[in-house]
Amino acid sequence: MTDDLQAFYGRWATLYDRIARFPGVGTWRAAAADSLALEPGDTVVEMGCGTGANFPYLRERVGTEGRVIGIDLTVGMLAVAARRIAANDWENVHLLRADAAHPPIPGLIEDAGSNLNEVGAVDAVLASFVSGMFAEPGPVIERWCSLLAPGGRICLFDAARSTDQRALPLDLAFRAFVVASTPPTWKIRYDEPPWQPLETRVETAHDAVKRRCTTHSTDRYALGFVRLVRGTVG
Ligand SMILES: C[S@@+](CC[C@H](N)C(=O)[O-])C[C@H]1O[C@@H](n2cnc3c(N)ncnc32)[C@H](O)[C@@H]1O
Repeated sequence: MTDDLQAFYGRWATLYDRIARFPGVGTWRAAAADSLALEPGDTVVEMGCGTGANFPYLRERVGTEGRVIGIDLTVGMLAVAARRIAANDWENVHLLRADAAHPPIPGLIEDAGSNLNEVGAVDAVLASFVSGMFAEPGPVIERWCSLLAPGGRICLFDAARSTDQRALPLDLAFRAFVVASTPPTWKIRYDEPPWQPLETRVETAHDAVKRRCTTHSTDRYALGFVRLVRGTVG
């Protein structure tokens, strides 16, 4: 993740958190959490957790005896997530500042602030609106799947351009949103418009889940702008 991107997300963390919790977005977050088939006591890792907008849905499903671990690189996003954890007294929701492309698990986590000592078996991995940020998502997804024991679940959900004919009028708005959320946001002309690599990366990541998992399924929301893939590793 580039310094530019970290600075961008750090600067806009509070606004991002408001948008990330719009009511409609909550429906997708709940669907993603459901697709992980979490049981009380499970450990779920969220890659690129941002401000922790998925935490309520994950925490509700793993219960007090389970564990939610959020990994992110951006200090400002993690600060908002930490405030959410503290405000809710969630003792079993932990944050790690680390590169999700090379997650520092399984193993011992030396993080005095998080009370998190050892991360062993991981039951599920979630990543929302993150896959499109990796230049080479294929190997990243492979690493995430390798954290899971047989029967472990993974879910990605991401925004990309829609192929639904009904979405054509909204496509321009979507492109504008991608430009506004891709630093440097002031550029007028791009060698390659930012929605193109986004789309390729999202497709590559979702294909990697389908290849790696013994069972998988997909869903689309918001006229096809939001794509979800879930899978179970064999
Ligand atoms: C669009 S936000 C999504 C946040 C959250 N998953 C959500 O659904 O609201 C992308 C997040 O991914 C994080 N991120 C991007 N690349 C990362 C990496 N290599 N390692 C850790 N975090 C990363 C950013 O810091 C940012 O918080």
